[in-house]
Amino acid sequence: MSGVNEIRSTFLNYFAANGHEIVASSPLVPRNDPTLMFTNAGMVPFKNVFTGVEKRPYSRAVSAQKCVRAGGKHNDLDNVGYTARHHTFFEMLGNFSFGDYFKENAIELAWKLITKEYGLPEKKLLVTVFSEDDEAAMLWKKIAGLSDDKIIRIPTSDNFWTMGDTGPCGPCSEIFYDHGDHIAGGPPGSPDQDGDRFIEIWNLVFMQYDQTGPDQRLLLPRPSIDTGMGLERISAVLQGTHDNYATDLMRALIEAVANATGVDPDGPQSVSHRVIADHLRASAFLVADGVLPSNEGRGYVVRRIMRRAMRHAQLLGSRDPLMWRLVPALVRQMGQAYPELVRAESLITETLHLEEKRFRKTLERGLTILDSESSNLNAGDQLSGEVAFTLYDTYGFPLDLTQDALRPRSIAVDLQGFDAAMTRQRQLARAAWSGSGEAATETLWFGLKDRLGATEFLGYEVGAAEGVVSALIHEGNEVTSLKAGDEGLLLVNQTPFYGESGGQVGDTGHILAPGLKAEVLGTSKKLSDLFIHRIRMVEGELVVGAAVELVVDNERHRAIRSNHSATHLLHEALREILGDHVAQKGSLVAPDRLRFDFSHPTPISANELRQIEDLANKFVLRNEPVETRLMAVDEAIETGARALFGEKYGDEVRVVTMGTRPEAGGKVFSVELCGGTHVARTGDIGLIRIVSEGAVASGVRRLEAMTGEVARRHLIEESQLLHGLADLLRTPVNETGPRLEALIEERRKLERDLTETRKKLALGGNSGAEEPVLEVGGTRLLARAVAGIETKDLKSLADDAKKRVGSGVVAIIGVAEDGKAGIVVGVTDDVSDRFDAVALVRIGAEKLGGKGGGGRRDLAQAGGPNADKAQEALDAIAAAIAGN
Ligand code: ALA
Repeated sequence: MSGVNEIRSTFLNYFAANGHEIVASSPLVPRNDPTLMFTNAGMVPFKNVFTGVEKRPYSRAVSAQKCVRAGGKHNDLDNVGYTARHHTFFEMLGNFSFGDYFKENAIELAWKLITKEYGLPEKKLLVTVFSEDDEAAMLWKKIAGLSDDKIIRIPTSDNFWTMGDTGPCGPCSEIFYDHGDHIAGGPPGSPDQDGDRFIEIWNLVFMQYDQTGPDQRLLLPRPSIDTGMGLERISAVLQGTHDNYATDLMRALIEAVANATGVDPDGPQSVSHRVIADHLRASAFLVADGVLPSNEGRGYVVRRIMRRAMRHAQLLGSRDPLMWRLVPALVRQMGQAYPELVRAESLITETLHLEEKRFRKTLERGLTILDSESSNLNAGDQLSGEVAFTLYDTYGFPLDLTQDALRPRSIAVDLQGFDAAMTRQRQLARAAWSGSGEAATETLWFGLKDRLGATEFLGYEVGAAEGVVSALIHEGNEVTSLKAGDEGLLLVNQTPFYGESGGQVGDTGHILAPGLKAEVLGTSKKLSDLFIHRIRMVEGELVVGAAVELVVDNERHRAIRSNHSATHLLHEALREILGDHVAQKGSLVAPDRLRFDFSHPTPISANELRQIEDLANKFVLRNEPVETRLMAVDEAIETGARALFGEKYGDEVRVVTMGTRPEAGGKVFSVELCGGTHVARTGDIGLIRIVSEGAVASGVRRLEAMTGEVARRHLIEESQLLHGLADLLRTPVNETGPRLEALIEERRKLERDLTETRKKLALGGNSGAEEPVLEVGGTRLLARAVAGIETKDLKSLADDAKKRVGSGVVAIIGVAEDGKAGIVVGVTDDVSDRFDAVALVRIGAEKLGGKGGGGRRDLAQAGGPNADKAQEALDAIAAAIAGN
C-alpha cells in the first residue's frame, strides 16, 4: 500500500485532472481572518471566496492544507496521545467548488476517488446525511448504489458543519469506513459510535449559508462545495490500520523518538511517543509560520504544545533536550511537500532547543512541588485548585500539564478552586490598584481585562491586520457603537498598533471596513497588555463584534523604529566612549527625534560627541540584521543584558541585539532588553545625527538625535544655512571660517579706534574748537557729559583729563544708550587737600538719581539711572567747588 506522501499526491492529481486548480497550503496563521486562532480546516483560506467577497481566476480548487486544532472551537490538545486519531497538527485534503458544481458532482467525484483511485471496497463504506437532506440521501443511492441501511440520517449538529461562530456553513455528509467487527464500536448515530470500528474518513459540506452572527444566517451567493479528508485517517485506512499513528509517516517520527530515547515505542510508554510525534509536527509547522513560543495568544498555544511534548520527553527518561534532535526526521518526511519546513529548519531547531532547555528548570521545580502536594492523593481524588494555580502563576506550569501529569494516576484538578484562586488574585491586583491613587475610571480596565484577556500584539511582524472589535468606550463608559464624529476608545482582540511604552510613542493610523473609516490618534497600554486605541470616527458606525482592518501609519512607524534602534546603538556607543558608568535614565522615541537621558557627571566635549556619533554610524553602515529573541529572565542575565523589569518565574523578556565586532571575536555590540519595535537591519536607520547635548539634572545628561530622512533634511538645512552665510560673506564655503575671523578681528580694531576717538572728542579734541576747561572760584574745572563712552573707560578718561587740566578738578559723565549714566570725578594732587573726589561724585550721582559712590580722594566713581540730568549734576559739582 502506498505511503502518506503518495496518498496526498494521488488526491491532488485526481482533482487536478478533474478541472481543479492545485492551491498550495496557506499558512497556519489565517491571513485575513481575525476570528480564528489557527487555520483549522481546508476551507479557511477560501472563506472570502465562498461568501463572494474575493474573486479567484478558478471556480474549482484542491489543496492539502496544514491545520492546527488546539485552542478555539476545534481543540484536540488534551486527547492527543491517548487516542488513535486525535492530532494537534494534521493535513486536510479537500476539493472545493465556488458556485460551480454542487451535491451531485461532489458525491460522484468523492465516490470515484475512494473506490477507484484508492480502491477501497464498496461494501466497507457507509455514509451519513443531515436528517433533512433528502436530496443527498437520494444521490448516494443513485450514484453509489448504497442501500438505505448504509445511508444514516443524523439530526444533530454533527451533520451541519460550521467553521466557527461565524463564516460559511451548511449541511454535510460524511463517508465512513468499517474496520470490521473485530474492532469495538457502533455505526454513526448509535450509542457506541465513538469506538474505533467505524471511522469517518471524508466530510462533504454542501455550503449554502454564511453565519454572520449568533442568530443570523445569509444565503451564499451560489451553493458551493467544501470537503475535508484527514490525510492521517485515510492513510491509516489505506495502510490497513485503524490507528493514525501506525501510518508510515507517523511511525517514522515515533521511531525517531525511540532511537533517541531507547524506549520501546510499543511498550507501556507508547503514549509519550505519540504525544511527541504529534506535537513535534505542530510545533515545527507553527514556528515555520512565524508563531514563536510566548505567554500570549498563539505564542502561548505553541508553548503549551511544546511543553506538553517536553514533559513526555522527560517521562521517557531523556536527560537533555530531545525535541530539536527530531527535526531532521520530520524534514525528511514532510520537507518535500512543505518547503517552508526546509527553509525554517534552523529556526525550528534553535527554538525547540532553547524552549526545552528553559522548560527543564520550570519542570523540575514544578514536578517536585506537584509530587509532594499529590503524594497522599489516590485515584479519583482531586488536586487542590490552589496548588494548581500556584504552579501556573508562580512556576509557569500550565494547567493542562498538571492535568496531564496526574492523568495516569486518575487524579483530576479542582477546576473551580483553580478559577477561584485566579479570581482572587485579580481582585488583589485590583485592590492594590485602587489604593495607588490612580483615577477611579481606570478601574474600568480591570473588568475589560478579565473579560477580554490580553490583546495580541501583531506589530512585531505586520503593519496592518484584521481584528474584531471587543469593546468601545465613550466618555468613560462602555458603549456598543460609535458614530461618525464621535471620539472614543477602541479595543480589539489583536492589533498591529504599538501601545506607548518603554519610551516609544504609540502608533497612529486608520481603522477601515466597508463604509467605515476612523482615525487612530494614538495607542496606549493598560494593565501591561490591554491595547487602547484612541479614535475619531470619520465615517460610518463602528459596532462591537465587527471585523475591521487596522492599518498603522507606516511612514511614521518606520521613523519611530529607526529612532528606537538608533537609541540602542547610541547607548552602547556612549558606554564605550565615556565609560561603563553610563546608565539609561530615561528616553523618548518619537518619529521626528530621539531623546536619551543617562548618568554622566560632566559635559561631553565636541570631540567625544563626534566619536560617539561615528561609532553608532559605523554599525548603521555595516547593515547587519537586528535580532530579537524571547528569553527567560535568568537566561537574559547570562547573556549580559543589564536592565531587568520582571523577576517572576516564567516571565519572559525580549532581547534585542544589533551589530557584531569582528575585531572583538564577533562579540555582539548592543544587547538590550526591550519590548519596542526595531528595524530589520541596522542599515535601515540610514543615518544617525546627534543634534544636542546638555544637562537635565545633576549628574544626568541628555542627548537628542535624529535619524534617516529627518536627519538628512536637518543636515541639508544646515548646509543651506552655511551656503547662505558664504554668499553674505562673498566667499567660498570652505573659506567662511578665516573670513569670519578676519571680520571679527577687524571689528575689534574698529571698536578700539572708535573708543580712542570718542575719548579725544570727550576731552575736546586737539583743535581747541571749544575750550573745555572753566575757572570756578579760582579752581580749574573740566566738566563734560559725553555719549558713547562705556563706564569701564571713564576712569582712564578721567586720568587723561587730569593731565590736561594740570591742576584742578575733572568731572565726566558717560551717557549710555539705555539712558543710564556713569560719573567719574578726579582731583589733581595739588588740590586734593581742598577737594574730595568721593564727596563730589556723590553730589553728582544724587542728581543722576543714584546713590553712593566710591573711590579715593583723588578719583571716585558712581552712577545713576537718569542720564538726562547730566547737566544738573555737573552744575551741582561746579557749585560745590565754587562754594569751597
Ligand atoms: N470543512 C469541513 C471540515 O473541516 C470539510 O470537516
